[in-house]
Amino acid sequence: MGIKDQAAEYRAALDAARAHASDWLASVPTRPVGPPLGADELLARFSMPLQEQPLDPAAVVDELARLAEPGLMAMPSGRFFGWVIGGTLPAAMAADWLVSAWDQNAAMRYATPATAAAEQVAGAWLLELLGLPTGADVGFTTGATGANFAGLAAARAHVLDQAGWDVAAEGMSGSPRVRVLVGAERHASIDMALKYLGLGRPAEVAVDSQGRIRPAALAQALDAGTGPAIVCLQAGNLHSGASDPMGEAAEISHRHGAWVHVDGAFGLWAAASPTHRGQLAGLADCDSWATDAHKTLNVPYDCGVAVVSRPQALRSVFGAHASYLVTDRDGPGDPFEKVPEFSRRARGVPVWAALRSLGTSGVAALVDGLVARAQAFGAALSRMDGVEVLNEVVFTQVCVSFGSDERTRNITARILADGTTWMSGSRWAGRDVLRISVSNWSTDGADVAASLDAIRRSVAAEDAG
Ligand SMILES: Cc1ncc(COP(=O)(O)O)c(C=O)c1O
Repeated sequence: MGIKDQAAEYRAALDAARAHASDWLASVPTRPVGPPLGADELLARFSMPLQEQPLDPAAVVDELARLAEPGLMAMPSGRFFGWVIGGTLPAAMAADWLVSAWDQNAAMRYATPATAAAEQVAGAWLLELLGLPTGADVGFTTGATGANFAGLAAARAHVLDQAGWDVAAEGMSGSPRVRVLVGAERHASIDMALKYLGLGRPAEVAVDSQGRIRPAALAQALDAGTGPAIVCLQAGNLHSGASDPMGEAAEISHRHGAWVHVDGAFGLWAAASPTHRGQLAGLADCDSWATDAHKTLNVPYDCGVAVVSRPQALRSVFGAHASYLVTDRDGPGDPFEKVPEFSRRARGVPVWAALRSLGTSGVAALVDGLVARAQAFGAALSRMDGVEVLNEVVFTQVCVSFGSDERTRNITARILADGTTWMSGSRWAGRDVLRISVSNWSTDGADVAASLDAIRRSVAAEDAG
């Protein structure tokens, strides 16, 4: 195949992808949010024997789009409020396409200087926006689970080092026991990261009605033991949106010699808003932080961010040397030295594009807008008969009960069947709840109003039996 043929093949395949992407994005504002068909039906659509001969790339893209269409959830819709998903800003999506076209292995500064520079600058911008220490180590991970893992790996190495144990050389067998304390409502990814790191099950510390760690209980738990310790705090509770009292908890932890890690998958972004950063006062006193750019910042999956206050901390944990690599010995360190993987896509580049397109005021407006929509939901729902908003809506999450657990479950099912909006059930504070998570930049007042109407319809239908 000649050079021209290759270029033409790329162009045809990308043109096809662009047409399908545009159709999909144009359909998102009006289509029902849930996928028309389920996983088994999609499996049947995709199931076919792999043919022997190659196919035209553009035709493959057309076929993929046609097969997938009825199985796509409109997660980028302004009326999607499940889990904490986030949409994608236009500049970030386009930058992500470029990342695929450039196909850089973003591991080494020497080999891929453009993406390394964009990521380094994006990391520095993030530190500034979130008020984290200048010069802290930043690594772009797959998500917050990976970022929690990276931060806690740095924590483990540090507290064991303080206890005279070199975990990189000696491993965990025979090491001093590391105590890990977590709020009773930490995210499950903290437990996963601790498991991967051989740190075992953490000790739970009592929380208040919004899921915030109780400082007195934390002090008591730290007083009750000795030796290396790590405390995991949370910025943004999955159900209430509330954040732990950072400054107070960090001070107590440090007084006991503990490392303080913050899981701020979506809630860390409150720090980028002058209106909301007060709830994270003292954040910069902690030692490591994990967040997602694919949640509140609205870049495409996958993109988490691990930050460690001590320069070189991530590098000392994840750095590696191999004769076939050209490593950056004297500079700021290679991207691969800050995350638990060698080869990876340049996932920090869409972060650069998102931040560049928004500016500091745009990031603050994005965060403020999400909170304002959540508060609009909270206010409207609390005025509805038989509806109880269970949390103080201080950030982007709203948890609602419709009375008994059964009634809440039934109404949640009716909301999903209605299709106008998508918000899922959960269990919090001992009750079944409808959980509304606002994380898409495009959600506007009309989306909130349409979703509230769908909730009202569902309640009326349930009452009518
Ligand atoms: C508080 C918190 N931590 C961690 C995670 C895990 O993030 P990810 O799915 O990006 O790994 C989530 C996901 O919603 C979260 O809300």
